[in-house]
Amino acid sequence: MPMKSPDPAPLPHTTITSRSGRRGFELHPSVLNDTGDILSFLRTRRSADVARMGPPGPTAEELGLMLEIAARAPDHGKLEPWRFIVLQGAGREAFAEHVRDVWEAMSGDERQGKKPLFDMMQAVPLVVFVIARPRAHPKIHQWEQLLCVGAVCQNLLAAATAMDYAAQWRTGWLATDERVARLLGLEDGESVAGVFYIGSIMPGTPPPQDRRRPFWRDLTTFWEPPAA
Ligand SMILES: Cc1cc2nc3c(=O)[nH]c(=O)nc-3n(C[C@H](O)[C@H](O)[C@H](O)COP(=O)(O)O)c2cc1C
Repeated sequence: MPMKSPDPAPLPHTTITSRSGRRGFELHPSVLNDTGDILSFLRTRRSADVARMGPPGPTAEELGLMLEIAARAPDHGKLEPWRFIVLQGAGREAFAEHVRDVWEAMSGDERQGKKPLFDMMQAVPLVVFVIARPRAHPKIHQWEQLLCVGAVCQNLLAAATAMDYAAQWRTGWLATDERVARLLGLEDGESVAGVFYIGSIMPGTPPPQDRRRPFWRDLTTFWEPPAA
């Protein structure tokens, strides 16, 4: 009979405190993204940095599988308050050129603090926009529908990573720029929940490091009834 859960002993890690005094830990790089079993993967999952990504990207079948898994998210009322827009190949290159035009047309003030982003789109073989499209519903509030879209996003990130691709969830100005929204063909009430960059880690780049993770006990209380 397979083991129901892995050894709960802590994995190799370093304990660290952030500059603002928050306690946490970083897993040793050697244990990151352990795809041996589902719980080990969830425990060690780590995003990639788009700056270290390049080809190859997923095949058409692999992309289909990622989106199938992404769509298998908890969804109150089965409202499907999201959709995907896939950019790859010539379409991705053309989109990146439009993003370059938008960025170059910005005034110095408007451009302040905004990364060009089109260079990332050019370098990474696959970009998936997850679009949130919550709608009015008598019982299911829109913010609840947005939580569902967040779950879709996390599923997509986890699926791509579990399939040994490098993946990162980003937003940046692309997610809120009206010119980009028009380019994507967004309708009223739709917005970008995430821009997913998916590719492979370029050879010769340094191995991924973990980032500080919170100790769950620092964020958890066990409720007890108030004293009578
Ligand atoms: C909604 C959302 C938007 C994000 N946007 C950006 C972004 O624009 N730029 C960035 O560098 N990281 C962004 N991040 C963080 C990256 O996804 C980062 O890789 C992630 O926090 C790494 O954590 P992980 O290893 O636990 O996945 C965003 C994360 C989320 C959830």
